[in-house]
Amino acid sequence: MNETAKEINPNTVPLEDATARILVADDDKLFQELFKDLILDMGHEILMVDNAMELLEKVKEFKPDIILSDVVMPGIDGFELTRRLKADPQTMHIPVVIITSLSDRSAKVSGLEAGADELLNKPIDETELSLRIRNLLKVKRFEDYLMEHGKSLSSEVASKTVQLENAFEKIRSGYIETVNRLTLAAEYRDKETGSHIKRISLCSQLLARYCGLDEPQVEAIFFGSPMHDVGKIGIPDSILLKPGKHTEEEFETMKTHSVIGADILRDAESEILIAAREIALSHHEAWDGSGYPDGLKGEEIPISGRIVRVADVYDALRSARPYKKAMTHEEAYKIMYEQKDKFDPSLLKAFDECQDEFRRLFDENQESD
Ligand SMILES: [Fe+2]
Repeated sequence: MNETAKEINPNTVPLEDATARILVADDDKLFQELFKDLILDMGHEILMVDNAMELLEKVKEFKPDIILSDVVMPGIDGFELTRRLKADPQTMHIPVVIITSLSDRSAKVSGLEAGADELLNKPIDETELSLRIRNLLKVKRFEDYLMEHGKSLSSEVASKTVQLENAFEKIRSGYIETVNRLTLAAEYRDKETGSHIKRISLCSQLLARYCGLDEPQVEAIFFGSPMHDVGKIGIPDSILLKPGKHTEEEFETMKTHSVIGADILRDAESEILIAAREIALSHHEAWDGSGYPDGLKGEEIPISGRIVRVADVYDALRSARPYKKAMTHEEAYKIMYEQKDKFDPSLLKAFDECQDEFRRLFDENQESD
């Protein structure tokens, strides 16, 4: 578990007068001794180097809180050293104080342009140096604290995001599983199987994707299509389970399953159940207007209903019923083309182009028992 992010409290920022690590570059031995005495007297740690290149070698290992640098040294000068330190993300946050005996204005401007945080003149004024170090440390400690605080906040946000994604995925899969089980319960009386529901889902998804529907629509059809016959729960056993052909009157009752299904799924708020309701109501509508319940024609029929109709008719033709044998793929294909006016022509064309995949999905998704 992550700790809750702490609010920034200035009282918890380390004191500026705590021991600091100070890295000093100066090639003058006399100044080196002077810096050592002054800085050790202030209670800080010091590492002295003779030139800028040596400072650059030591800086990442020593991790100073402040860098003091002379300007004129063998090799690169203090200005170039400052530029390099400020260009490196690992050292850019370390305050740099340039100490120079050059007193003219252009030297000061060069130091500031290079990115120096402070400029001090030689000879060194002990009190001034002490106060500058104290002030820079105060700022540095607060910046360090903010950086640490920022890092812990970022990692906490990342961790909470993962937790939220996991929780969302659990809720989503639980929701989909519940929908599938309720669908199976509704189909149970009809002796429909989990495989039939799975096939409708897979074939509808195939067509939806092939026709270029966007992924949220494809997903809504994939998860909503298994509920296309949920309204059969409202059909009396004597009609639903009748082994032979239905009378005209019985067939009229059977046809009400689309309206009953839409009624069961009314006022849905989730995209999946909204699609499921649309499919339940429209999957027996026919392109030529001869379907039910509303006799819709052509594009008046929602695309989801038109898609599921193709998948449902194919599956019904290929499945055995008490009153009919199962058809082969070729027989089912032929019948569908004989009734081509009842299907959206673009979907029938898609079915034709994907027929091998339809055949495979049907053959591979059979009940094992
Ligand atoms: Fe149906």
